[in-house]
Amino acid sequence: MKVLVTGGAGYIGSTICSALEDNGYTPVILDNLSCGRREFTIGKIFYEGDIGDVDLVERIFFENPDIICTIHCAALIVVPDSVARPFEYYQENISKSLLFFKKIINLGYPKLIFSSSASIYDDSENYMVYEDSPLNPRSPYARTKYMLELIIKDFAVAYNFKSLILRYFNPIGADPNYRSGPYIESPSHLLGKMITAYKNNEIFKITGVNWDTRDGTGIRDYIHVWDLALAHVQAVKHIDDILNSPDKNYEIINIGNGQGSTVREMLNAFNSVVDKPLVVEETESRPGDVAGAFTNSKKAKRLLSWETKYSIGEAISSAIKWDEIWKAKIRR
Ligand SMILES: NC(=O)c1ccc[n+]([C@@H]2O[C@H](COP(=O)([O-])OP(=O)(O)OC[C@H]3O[C@@H](n4cnc5c(N)ncnc54)[C@H](O)[C@@H]3O)[C@@H](O)[C@H]2O)c1
Repeated sequence: MKVLVTGGAGYIGSTICSALEDNGYTPVILDNLSCGRREFTIGKIFYEGDIGDVDLVERIFFENPDIICTIHCAALIVVPDSVARPFEYYQENISKSLLFFKKIINLGYPKLIFSSSASIYDDSENYMVYEDSPLNPRSPYARTKYMLELIIKDFAVAYNFKSLILRYFNPIGADPNYRSGPYIESPSHLLGKMITAYKNNEIFKITGVNWDTRDGTGIRDYIHVWDLALAHVQAVKHIDDILNSPDKNYEIINIGNGQGSTVREMLNAFNSVVDKPLVVEETESRPGDVAGAFTNSKKAKRLLSWETKYSIGEAISSAIKWDEIWKAKIRR
């Protein structure tokens, strides 16, 4: 059985493709390589092209009529870039997804698993968010995810479009078999910055130590990307049972590990798996920073029969090892 994965050459999409393969599914990748890596598509069915190219989408389904559902990862994803270039984000993430959704509906393949984001949640008092917690998307990027969720709900009513909306928290690490992983040269997220500081013998800056968290630093829900990928395999398996009646066409599910880790806790976890501890400097928080959030993951467990298996330490170790493998691949 085949599963179409848009954005399947990207960090998360490529990991999902490997997890699908390991579980007996055949991924079919549609990616325009605006960000992703061709290396991640080697040996897989790969269509290089755009989700907005409806003729190509039609050809993919004509050539792969046994596709059972689509996982929609393709998007532009960099928050500061979205502030600088909102037109591109609304065009790539919303306008093209609109065309793409309508096309797969018209072709008779109205089943979708959508990569949404925890960045659409508002701040919550005790930092735990549920699927029905208040929303407050604070960047053009986050607003594209929020708006697509609304579009999906309207399409569910009008066109019988069936969707599982997965709101990811903070994926880290790499495929345990190192087939793919993070590929951004200058990562802006916490673990990427720790690895950069470690490799270059630089000072690691904790930005913000006065939040009202247990140790004053920001808190996030980090999830091993392989656990995240396996949640998609479960979503593919269970989408028909979850959306099993005509009036139930979509479901929103948070995908995180259900426990927040503060920056200091991440730092301790990082230092416990490397040979020399990071040198740390504490600084002010940056404009726009928030204290953070983590999920209650009961719904994911109940609906997807899924829970995380990997520890934060294992995720960090895999990220460090992948970084070495990846750099060696680039140098070759
Ligand atoms: N990485 C995270 O921390 C995170 C967190 C929450 C949600 N998400 C969501 O997960 C999804 C995957 O994220 P990622 O980290 O793998 O990003 P990524 O940039 O590595 O992957 C996105 C992929 O989509 C492709 N793409 C972009 N626009 C396209 C288009 N118009 N047509 C075809 N392909 C296109 C890119 O080439 C890239 O390969 C995104 O939808 C993102 O919003 C990511």
